[in-house]
Amino acid sequence: MNRENLTHNPAEQALIAKLLEAHQEHLFADWDQPGTNDEAKAAFLADLTRIDASYPGGLVGYISNARTLLAEAREGTNPFEGCVPHQPNPVDLTQFDASYDHYEALGKAHFFKTAFVLVAGGLGERLGYSGIKLDIPVEVTETTPYIAHYAACLKAMESRMDAPRPVPLIIMTSEDTNAKTLASLEAHHWFGLQKEQVHILKQELVPAIADNEGHLALKEKYKLILKPHGHGDIHMLLHTSGIAARLKEQGFEHLVFIQDTNGQVFNAVPAALGVSVEKGFDFNSLAVNRIPGEAVGGLARLVGNGKELVINVEYNQLDPLLRATVSPEGDVPNERGFSLFPGNINVLVVKLASYTRILERTQGNIAEFVNPKYADSTRTAFKKPTRLETMMQDLAKLFGPNERVGVSVFDRSWCFSAIKNNVADAAAKHAAGGPPESGATAESDFYGAGRTRLSVAGMTVHEAQETLILDIPMTPGPRVILRPSFALTLDEVRSKISGGSISGEATLVLEGDVRLKNVEIADGAALVIQACAGAEVTVRNLKVANDGFELVRLTDAEMKSEATPEYLRIRGYRIENRGAKVYAFTTPGVYVIDASGAVVS
Ligand code: UTP
Repeated sequence: MNRENLTHNPAEQALIAKLLEAHQEHLFADWDQPGTNDEAKAAFLADLTRIDASYPGGLVGYISNARTLLAEAREGTNPFEGCVPHQPNPVDLTQFDASYDHYEALGKAHFFKTAFVLVAGGLGERLGYSGIKLDIPVEVTETTPYIAHYAACLKAMESRMDAPRPVPLIIMTSEDTNAKTLASLEAHHWFGLQKEQVHILKQELVPAIADNEGHLALKEKYKLILKPHGHGDIHMLLHTSGIAARLKEQGFEHLVFIQDTNGQVFNAVPAALGVSVEKGFDFNSLAVNRIPGEAVGGLARLVGNGKELVINVEYNQLDPLLRATVSPEGDVPNERGFSLFPGNINVLVVKLASYTRILERTQGNIAEFVNPKYADSTRTAFKKPTRLETMMQDLAKLFGPNERVGVSVFDRSWCFSAIKNNVADAAAKHAAGGPPESGATAESDFYGAGRTRLSVAGMTVHEAQETLILDIPMTPGPRVILRPSFALTLDEVRSKISGGSISGEATLVLEGDVRLKNVEIADGAALVIQACAGAEVTVRNLKVANDGFELVRLTDAEMKSEATPEYLRIRGYRIENRGAKVYAFTTPGVYVIDASGAVVS
């Protein structure tokens, strides 16, 4: 058909002309005559126009970048050619010692100059959850969604400030998650946050590419296949929206980048901020010790080609790079069994002054990559369409020699445990010796971090035996939930808990200003204390014995049934209240719970 007949809109005609020049004839071949399928054609052209406007360099730029990267991928070009990897000189925060307390205190004093960026545009293909990941409960004792937990952490940070001001939260959504994220925030009154402190930035999906020539892939006539462009989009959006610059003007000094399902991340935030402040880091990557070869990106100091960068190197690139340069045996363990290159958990603390400078210079465009799955060794065809991607951690590549890029290493279950995989894949990953990263392991680790805090405060913790649920390992207790309103730092936990013990599958939930002195919670029993703002509760010498909460495995029928909430089916169990002791203090005041369990005020 004559190209003028495709549309009467001059802007669309110009875009079609550019696309035809970029060899995308197939997009407009076989169009029906005017009058047939006109709505679908209009929607198709609207999609092309929107993507053209949102991608730096437009659709033609995208196609050209794709051709270059696909040619490199086909030839197997080594992106680190000429670079030698060195250990990145990490700050070790794996021990809860005086230095940890020092960094936490520094970080806590810096809360009022900190804002958070939550990247939540991911499709979650591996998990296959029908809703958004932010709505999944981090624990099913009280069923708290991740977004509610994060919001509670921000509120708690605000309450620690000398002159409280709301902590800004920027959420990056995508076409896949935007409407549901907004609906969830609205339905829950922004989870206690002020609407004005939350900023939503929506990333655009990008077109999938069908072949090495950069042809855009079609799902059907008049419909592109669109896919997420990766979390690296956040930098461009923080620039184009003007939000990064505005936060800097308002006196904020650091941005902390977090992911959608990591219930432990706020455990590490105070100390990580403290490190950034004291060491003057422009860019601070949070990391964990990793076993050589483990499928998690390693942080390395790369020296070569006249440059030195501390960046994330994907695990499948790190080993060959080491073999080709400094270590013929590849990624080998140190005396503690860990790689010299700590595992990146993609939590970043970035200094706003340097960040805005870099955004100004680069417009927030960070390196793209492509990862096609080839049909065979000739590398001429793909198994399925691919697309260009970006990673937010690649921001580090834009930092220069005058900027300080550091790495802070934390104990793994203390700072990171995400939900990535469905139960079948999680079990297979466990069988293969890797971390399952499932709903059950994330919840188990969440309670585990709570137990760690009790132990640090001197409470005796007798852990239950690890068990397998749907062939995925988890520790069923004690299930400890210390709400952010109760404590944000180890020092706060220590000041509120002394002595006592908790055992086996017991449960402890503490919210608000609660103090426990010599409280003993028997195996299977549960103590829940909720203190509203202004209520001060002290529990003394109480021995808690009741039927508590019970972890009940789902039957095969329940696993298959649509009537079972999906957030339970991604774990394989539910938790039922059989007689937990709940104290709810809803009016301010000073209260004591004595050894008999009675409340005396
Ligand atoms: P994940 O690695 O968990 O990827 O992203 P994913 O896309 O959510 O899940 P899969 O790979 O399809 O199974 C890490 C973080 O980055 C966000 C995710 O929402 C998550 O918080 N993300 C990912 C984005 O914001 N945008 C993207 O395009 C991709």
